[in-house]
Amino acid sequence: MNIIVVNGPNLNLLGEREPEIYGNESLEELMLWLEKSPLGSGHSFKFFQSNHEGEIIDFLHDERHWCEGIIINPAAFTHYSYAIRDAISSINIPTVEIHLSDILTREDFRQLSVIKPVCIAQVSGMGKNSYMEGLRILTEKLKN
Ligand code: DQA
Repeated sequence: MNIIVVNGPNLNLLGEREPEIYGNESLEELMLWLEKSPLGSGHSFKFFQSNHEGEIIDFLHDERHWCEGIIINPAAFTHYSYAIRDAISSINIPTVEIHLSDILTREDFRQLSVIKPVCIAQVSGMGKNSYMEGLRILTEKLKN
């Protein structure tokens, strides 16, 4: 299966950024861990991180004919980017929204996800395992 994993703004600083919330591992370490996991083997991945909304949208458009599933941590765009939401619904590819932290127990502004309604699932609060759970949900869905 061809899967893209998209990470939004500030996630390039994982490992340095608020480690008590987001952990000590870098984004690169995390993506490698996902790709090399037993669940990841047998799938082809493309990884993308950007701090820019338009670049994320362009990447989703560009990969729409290659990818069969999407794992996305839209980071702060989760809470207000109708443009990313529209991009996901426009390309109509099964998408799982994931978050390292538990967005439902943090600040009020994080409680709302404008992305969630266009995703097959939202996984939040499991640290790096949120990505693994996202992959599990996606591969289960794509099998059927
Ligand atoms: C995040 C949660 C968002 O609210 C925040 O803006 C992030 C990271 C997470 O993975 O927990 O940048 O998506």
